[in-house]
Amino acid sequence: MSITDCKVINLPKISDPRGNLTFIEGQSHVPFEIKRVYYLYDVPGGAERGGHAHKALHQLIIAMSGSFDVVLDDGTEKKRVHLNRSYCGLYVCPMMWRELDNFSSGSVCMVLASNAYDEDDYFREYSSFLSAMKPS
Ligand code: TYD
Repeated sequence: MSITDCKVINLPKISDPRGNLTFIEGQSHVPFEIKRVYYLYDVPGGAERGGHAHKALHQLIIAMSGSFDVVLDDGTEKKRVHLNRSYCGLYVCPMMWRELDNFSSGSVCMVLASNAYDEDDYFREYSSFLSAMKPS
């Protein structure tokens, strides 16, 4: 898997004058089974989140409210994705360093994940991530 696999997925949107509705089904709208949902909120101005990679976890990141940027880095190439629609999710494959920044005030970042929380699945040090990506 590579940075080109990390794409924005357009989710189903049922437009309605009473308010729009979006739904997500694991393995149908996202390329993995959803085992966990978590969200970031009350993010202070200027804060940065992320700053790690996962060994095996697949994720879909959605700006449920407001906007923020996700910077993806596979150790060779980087790309910055701006998320600001609650019907669009950024798929992030395993072995991808990610940083989240540029949060707008009141933004909410929801993450769907393919597995339960496991600290052993993290690369917390960029140097360890790079060594795993480019073994000498
Ligand atoms: P972390 O994944 O480092 O957050 P971020 O990438 O947004 O900076 O998690 C922050 C803390 O929350 C860390 O102590 C682990 C804990 N945590 C859980 O207990 N369960 C979870 O599902 C997540 C995502 C984090």
